[in-house]
Amino acid sequence: MEQYVIRGGNPLVGEIEIGGAKNAALAILSAAIMTDETVYIENLPDVRDTNVLLDAIQKIGGIVERVNRHTVRINGSTIGDYSVDYEYIKKIRASYYLLGALLGKYKKAEVPLPGGCNIGSRPIDQHLKGFRALGAQVDIRHGAICASAEQGLFGRHIYLDMVSVGATINIMMAASMANGYTILENAAREPHVVDVANFLNSMGANIKGAGTDVIRIRGVEKLHAANYMIVPDMIEAGTYMIGAAATKGDVLIKNVIPKHLEAITAKLTEIGCEVQEFDDAIRVIASKRLHRTHVKTLPYPGYPTDMQPQISVLLALARGTSIVTESIFENRFKYVDELARMGGNVKVEGNTAIIDGVEGFTGARVSAPDLRAGAALVIAGLAADGITVVDDITYIQRGYEDFEVKLASLGAEIQKVFSEKEVQKFRYRVG
Ligand code: UD1
Repeated sequence: MEQYVIRGGNPLVGEIEIGGAKNAALAILSAAIMTDETVYIENLPDVRDTNVLLDAIQKIGGIVERVNRHTVRINGSTIGDYSVDYEYIKKIRASYYLLGALLGKYKKAEVPLPGGCNIGSRPIDQHLKGFRALGAQVDIRHGAICASAEQGLFGRHIYLDMVSVGATINIMMAASMANGYTILENAAREPHVVDVANFLNSMGANIKGAGTDVIRIRGVEKLHAANYMIVPDMIEAGTYMIGAAATKGDVLIKNVIPKHLEAITAKLTEIGCEVQEFDDAIRVIASKRLHRTHVKTLPYPGYPTDMQPQISVLLALARGTSIVTESIFENRFKYVDELARMGGNVKVEGNTAIIDGVEGFTGARVSAPDLRAGAALVIAGLAADGITVVDDITYIQRGYEDFEVKLASLGAEIQKVFSEKEVQKFRYRVG
């Protein structure tokens, strides 16, 4: 079982490069099968989730050719199976994007129902509502979503009951190849929604308004070959911004779109960090203890739920009492008990965490409960006094490429280990 072992106390200092956005990549790889021509995708993050999805695409007959670590060529002309195996959806929920892609292109698809996950119950009723509105027959049979549209899909006026990234993208994909005009209201405005729309447009789709809450899609009959570069990952960037702040460091984070990071920048500035914005880089400098604030997670451009555990860890070290409200997922405070093992003083009531800042953490053995909370616990370990061992890091590897390598390049003492013996060796080495 892989673990991270960390000796905390070193400020993160230096420069790092951010990779392509995992959440954009998952949708873009799925959408790439919607043409019979070859699609070339660059800036693909080499993380577990994208690699599982590439396997799922191959399993249904798509041709996937890795040109290099961050570039892939996909050809969907050989797809012969419209049904995705449970094994993939179990590993990554986002394989449900293949539903929108297959339904749009072939007018039929079968994908197992993803079920709940570590951060909450996560229904997908809005995705299904959208497909039905486009004219698909959608049934749940033997645990799978079976969607078909023998007469074709037809553009409609669709209003989402809540802002959902996944439903917006899934409906946008299917509607791209429907007959006629779709108007999608109350759409998600996240940068990766825009990135997927740009990608579909580069394949010949006709999507307007992505990035606003009304997306207009004129269906086209066919999509064609494209070369596309995935947008930088705002959550990876945000995680390093908070890592710099928590360790009183100074980090220049390159290959980012500072506009996407505004909600995080605003909070860091508010609590006493210096944040400098450049054209495609951002620098975070923290030299003293930070102070309290309130944070509420909201759909973009609000503060992202995927950055909630990280900022909560940071506030757990700040002066005063902070309140963090999680308004997107109901079960996103599972790391709080782990943080308590390191000396964190956080009380959760419903969807609110009341955080009494402490002067410092002490290293302990903790487990990553999910991807972003796992990253937050690593940040806690970097800021802590002594040695922290983080278990269950497979969650972290789902979304962060070379996490320990990038952190080490900034001066962190962190190592990925495979056995207790290696943990002991690390302890011995760092004294
Ligand atoms: C995506 C991101 C995830 C991020 C989340 C919110 C990917 C692969 N994942 O997840 O990292 O945390 O956006 O920014 O991009 N909901 C429903 N019914 C639906 C769909 C959603 O009730 O049909 C609810 C969800 O339970 C949640 C809220 O709507 O409370 C937002 O979820 P959504 O935006 O859909 O999240 P995901 O697309 O699953």
